[in-house]
Amino acid sequence: RPLWCLAAQRKGMVIRMKKEFRDLLREHGRDTLPNVLLVSAECAPLSKTGGLADVVGTLPKSLAKLGIDARVITPYHRCIKDKYADKVEHMFYFYAKLGWRQEYVGIEKLVLDGVTIYLVDNEQYFGDKIYRGGNPEGEQYSFFCRAVLDAIPNLGFDVDVVHCNDWHTAMIPMLARTQYRGAKQEQIKYLLTIHNIAFQGKFGFDFVQDMLDVDSRYYTPEFMELNGCADYLKAGCVFADRINTVSPSYASEIKMPYYAEGLEGILNARSAQLTGIINGIDKKVYNPHGDALLPARYDRGHLKGKAVCKAELQARMGLEQRADVPMFAMVTRMTEQKGFDLVACVLDDMMCREDMQFMLLGSGDERFENFMRSAEGRYKGRLCAYIGYSEELSHLVYAGSDFFLMPSRFEPCGLSQMIAMRYGSVPIVRETGGLRDTVTPYNRFTGEGNGFSFANFDAWEMRDTMRLAMDCYKNEEIMSGLISRAMQADFGFERSAMEYAKHYIWML
Ligand code: ADP
Ligand code: GLC
Repeated sequence: RPLWCLAAQRKGMVIRMKKEFRDLLREHGRDTLPNVLLVSAECAPLSKTGGLADVVGTLPKSLAKLGIDARVITPYHRCIKDKYADKVEHMFYFYAKLGWRQEYVGIEKLVLDGVTIYLVDNEQYFGDKIYRGGNPEGEQYSFFCRAVLDAIPNLGFDVDVVHCNDWHTAMIPMLARTQYRGAKQEQIKYLLTIHNIAFQGKFGFDFVQDMLDVDSRYYTPEFMELNGCADYLKAGCVFADRINTVSPSYASEIKMPYYAEGLEGILNARSAQLTGIINGIDKKVYNPHGDALLPARYDRGHLKGKAVCKAELQARMGLEQRADVPMFAMVTRMTEQKGFDLVACVLDDMMCREDMQFMLLGSGDERFENFMRSAEGRYKGRLCAYIGYSEELSHLVYAGSDFFLMPSRFEPCGLSQMIAMRYGSVPIVRETGGLRDTVTPYNRFTGEGNGFSFANFDAWEMRDTMRLAMDCYKNEEIMSGLISRAMQADFGFERSAMEYAKHYIWML
């Protein structure tokens, strides 16, 4: 389809949605769209460790196109101060009560790409790492929840919906409903988005009492107790007005014990308020046609630039300069979630038997980092393990690779496979969560599909799927069809924004 046709289709969709919003609002006796405050531990491009930051950075821009004023509140992390201090405007400060402590809260403001971002300043909590781990992290984000709630009435922004993200912000609905009775914070509606149920923020009751003065009657299984701990994400699931997660498949999966990490009870009980909204990506940031971080640009019809990117990636990473060899890539946090056990199990076998290259950009668990470093030593010139985080290099890896491997044990949504597809790197994924919802497996009989997938969390299944991909690589016609269909998939954020907009209105 030509581009103008897609653009017209999208415009038509926006007009239809705006009408649908008006009708929905009328049902709620309102004539204005809700004001939304997104609360998050990270927000791209200011601070980022993973996909959460991308989503919180992109969603408000797409909501603005629908006429919704969505603003963000996030910690004023060291990495933001270092880069943006001269663009930030101080608004006001106060002292928040954190148990017996009185803690400084500075509220700063930054406008980026037309989106207003409020930054919560406190050197003691946000002066170094974004996530400190363990109880220190619990203290960082208990402080953040309290600071956000106390700041809301003074932001000069009439908030209708607070949109919380993950456990770091999940105590907000509970505190609002139990400790702010009769105040503005109690009137607001709360949406909780679960980006990853594996992280729940579990602490001792004494700790939570000491931080947030939570009454002991809430330390029970109907409220926030799980396995003898106070669980912040569970509290969010109990008290939020609505809950969503980031893909329809993951929304079903987290009602089952294998994926729910103990929260299946509450999520089944609240299944009427639980939905799955698939994420999108920022198509301006991830755009092979206009990406300033690449040595050459390209698009679906003109792939010469992709070959230049592959050669540049090989040269920069010390890999053999060969155009004819399939290059598999991963850009990832190196954790069990991302299926590193499978990679560790079959990588040697594959590297010994197959004519292939492997490029990893990632960091995480020490054991996986060490495994990949040693593999690099064994397969010099064919395998590169770049241990670290680099936004710039990630673009070159997406553009320069032929296949993108994502064999996740579970994957709430996954942005990397969507980014890879946009850059024409054909995804190889396990059929779980958002990976199942975004990748259509190649069908050798009909020729359909935009990637490869396997069902079980099994290293040999992954290896067989990679082999199938390599066979397809040898057939130019099949491969160019796959690349073309992968690049054609529409993962723009517009659709997600429309779904979120509907959710906000339903909650009013
Ligand atoms: P998750 O949020 O679970 O880590 P996603 O696929 O949703 O996984 O998002 C990962 C995001 O982080 C993508 O934008 C990806 O490009 C980026 N990313 C992950 N690891 C790195 C890295 N080492 N260097 C640069 N970017 C990375
Ligand atoms: C989490 C999930 C990932 C998802 C991201 C953004 O980090 O692990 O699958 O894409 O959040 O929602």
